[in-house]
Amino acid sequence: MELYKKTGSTNDICLELCRQQLPEGYVVIADEQTGGRGRLGRRWISPPGQNIYLSILLRPDMQPNVASIITLMASIGCINAMKKLVPGIDAHIKWPNDLMIGAKKTGGILTESRIEGMKLSCAVVGIGLNVNIPGSELPRDTIIPATSIFAETGITLNRSELAAAMLQETDDCYTLLKAHGIKAVIETWLLHTRMIGRHITVSSAEGETSGIAEGLDEEGRLIVRQQDNALKTILSGDIKVKSYD
Ligand code: BTN
Repeated sequence: MELYKKTGSTNDICLELCRQQLPEGYVVIADEQTGGRGRLGRRWISPPGQNIYLSILLRPDMQPNVASIITLMASIGCINAMKKLVPGIDAHIKWPNDLMIGAKKTGGILTESRIEGMKLSCAVVGIGLNVNIPGSELPRDTIIPATSIFAETGITLNRSELAAAMLQETDDCYTLLKAHGIKAVIETWLLHTRMIGRHITVSSAEGETSGIAEGLDEEGRLIVRQQDNALKTILSGDIKVKSYD
């Protein structure tokens, strides 16, 4: 494990460690990131002293087309850890990578992989979680409103304890993946999301799709039932859930 007071992006450090052939399980944690990034090259605001920014180096025996399962797996781990430390918290996952409390986003996962031949040579799972940051210091210009565990519950958590739980729970889910395969992870993921059966809008480079979130396919892609009843498989996009009620 490597701990940094301040770094650019823990994912960059982990990708470099991947290139240097370090074994899987290596973890990089930073108190502050100056170049934290999210999906689609967006900025991940990473001030010091309040949140968790960590990356895990994995070398799963997987083909690139199912690499998104790694993100689903880590999100289960994070939600389980939050629920363990804050019993009763309304934490759930929104496809593809959002860690939610109620209708707001408290964290996200960015998995970046390297491919060798037909296989993944490594997957770097980057997790950013807003933990103790007050609501007044959260970014306001996000697509989904941002929040933190503290802003939602008033509870200040010990970040080391929470990070340890996130790593343990993610490891447990990785064990599930290795022992029982992708289907088992998808079934577990479905228990931790509140978006299935809800009306959603997906925005992506191809435009907007609206409909009911039906479930995930065997590669972890989102299936949406459109108004004309046709099913559409979504590879990636920003999801807005009309209402969680
Ligand atoms: C997202 O919601 O778009 C994903 C955000 C992922 C942020 C984390 S913080 C640790 C790791 N290092 C990064 O630069 N990004 C990820």
